Amino acid sequence: MKYRALELQLNAGKVTPTFITQEQPKLQTDQVTIKVAYSDINHKDFLALNPKSGVLRHYPQIPGIDAAGVVVASNQAHLPLGQKVLITGFDLGISWPGGYAEYITVPAKWVVKLPTNLSLAMAMQYGTAGSTAALSVQALLAQALPKQTPLLITGATGGVGGWALAILKHLGYHHLTAVSRQAAATPYLTHLGAEQVITPDALKTIPAKPLQKQRFGGVIDAVGGDLLAAILPQVAYGGRIALSGNTGGNQLNTTTLPFILRHVQLIGIDSVYYPASQRQAVWQKLATSFKPTTTTLACTKIDFQDLAATLPTFNTNKPTGRYLIQF
Ligand SMILES: NC(=O)c1ccc[n+]([C@@H]2O[C@H](COP(=O)([O-])OP(=O)(O)OC[C@H]3O[C@@H](n4cnc5c(N)ncnc54)[C@H](OP(=O)(O)O)[C@@H]3O)[C@@H](O)[C@H]2O)c1
Repeated sequence: MKYRALELQLNAGKVTPTFITQEQPKLQTDQVTIKVAYSDINHKDFLALNPKSGVLRHYPQIPGIDAAGVVVASNQAHLPLGQKVLITGFDLGISWPGGYAEYITVPAKWVVKLPTNLSLAMAMQYGTAGSTAALSVQALLAQALPKQTPLLITGATGGVGGWALAILKHLGYHHLTAVSRQAAATPYLTHLGAEQVITPDALKTIPAKPLQKQRFGGVIDAVGGDLLAAILPQVAYGGRIALSGNTGGNQLNTTTLPFILRHVQLIGIDSVYYPASQRQAVWQKLATSFKPTTTTLACTKIDFQDLAATLPTFNTNKPTGRYLIQF
């Protein structure tokens, strides 16, 4: 059977998203085929348009690191026909044909069964961003974290930071400081749960000292770079930083003092190759205890047929919240 997919094609250094029609691959014994109902746009999907980003090693490629839908072909007893499922990360949309397609055929071990209490659409409103936020929150909660602890969340107008903010608020944390470069985002971030919203510049003091006032008992950082360097001296004794992102850059110029004098812990978060065996539990949390009940992220809905035009504009107006693709 033939199906439509969005392919990134590279010509003379320029990447163009182009719809193609292709035949479904033959199902291998360890694979399942899924009729995709929803996908989403993550920062990484947008970066795939830039050949210099290194996200894709070869073109043409069908992007889309996330997908949710229904199993339509399977040799796996635990994934019967009709089972609702989701996939985030692994090699999907990177070195394996991704979620921007009406059908995907993927290794069964990548597939998470959709928890009851979660719709396919909600699974993709979370997507990689939501699962990364959940892993980041888990990392902070792995040690006692009283509800009155002041917490800092960077990149909060985006997917990872936004979900982290909303989840922490839902869990009862109320001294939440969100960081945004956008003054106009304050009402939105307050709605998500921020007690205060500050700019990155407000965290950067001049001259920067290796140890400053201990302002934050925990940090969820989706930005990294200079902003992380500015945050480290302001983390309280024993505080944890869950670092997942690098929108602010890959370099980290800092000193050892926050680590060796204040027992600060910098914890790397990776959702892409997070063990398959532990994913069901994370998604169960996103469907239940972590699921915000009184608020949700801004979500822009895009029809799959409009994706070729929309994907290149993803960053133009500084993205807020999540982008859901409906098939
Ligand atoms: N480790 C993992 O497994 C994993 C998984 C998912 C995502 N990530 C990474 O996490 C980061 C966030 O992903 P996302 O999906 O949430 O992206 P997103 O939706 O595009 O949001 C990123 C946010 O970061 C802020 N930002 C962007 N550039 C910045 C800069 N130069 N300085 C300060 N803030 C900046 C922006 O907020 P303001 O405009 O409000 O300042 C933006 O809303 C990305 O680096 C992504 O690659 C990692």
